[in-house]
Amino acid sequence: MVTSAPIGVIGGSGLYSLLDDAEEVELTTPYGPPSDVVTVGRIGSRSVAFVPRHGRDHRFPPHRIPYRANLWALRSLGVRQVLAPNAVGSLRPEHGPGVIVVPDQLVDRTSGRVQTYYDTSGAVHVSFADPYCPSGRAVAVASARAGGWETVDGGTLVVIEGPRFSTRAESRWFAANGWTIVGMTGFPEAVLARELALCYTPLSLVTDHDAGVEAGEGVTHEEVLEFFAQNVTRMRTLVADAVRSLPTDRTCPCRSALDGLKLPFELP
Ligand code: ADE
Repeated sequence: MVTSAPIGVIGGSGLYSLLDDAEEVELTTPYGPPSDVVTVGRIGSRSVAFVPRHGRDHRFPPHRIPYRANLWALRSLGVRQVLAPNAVGSLRPEHGPGVIVVPDQLVDRTSGRVQTYYDTSGAVHVSFADPYCPSGRAVAVASARAGGWETVDGGTLVVIEGPRFSTRAESRWFAANGWTIVGMTGFPEAVLARELALCYTPLSLVTDHDAGVEAGEGVTHEEVLEFFAQNVTRMRTLVADAVRSLPTDRTCPCRSALDGLKLPFELP
């Protein structure tokens, strides 16, 4: 039997495994291997493929993650809906560590990352006005609230190049623009998912107040990892609950993202 799964999870810092008794699938893609072996298993009645974004040993810093290979590998396993837990800093004093934000907008402040599959021949311009899946977002918000998380429905995630954290001035500027949270991995992951007509839903766990927030003293990598580690069991439960609640049929616009566009190659 060919291993396949309609749902994919890309685990963030600290979330290096998700599924018990899962089958390990070693894959390669036209963009090289994904961050690590992909595991495919079940959560309830749903088949799920899991890839740890940074690798199981956290060997890939945010700017070196093989984003294209990860999304391609998931799609080649049949994945059409992706849940993307990640650690973020908060730009708002009122949203402290432990809050789950399900952003509805994104600002790209990365530089130099390959952000498209369509750089060979012909131009393919996908719409990205609303970067996230509306159905997936609704499920993520409902699952987080049902799990007792303080949950923010909406907001803007600004993705920085890293691997350094922001200066106070950058952080204050992000907050002054009205942006909500800051992370390092949400882009180009979201746009690459869109370019493969996948549903993509971030589940952002606030691990710290970013440097420009009054309550924040500046953040260290150890703090982020430690906070995520303390919450990883709860995060796993949240992801599993969201997986169980995702719709079995896609009615959202994400699935039609490539309709009418002339693609230079066939999607897996
Ligand atoms: N990930 C977790 N906390 C962060 C922060 N403050 N800035 C960028 N990425 C983060």
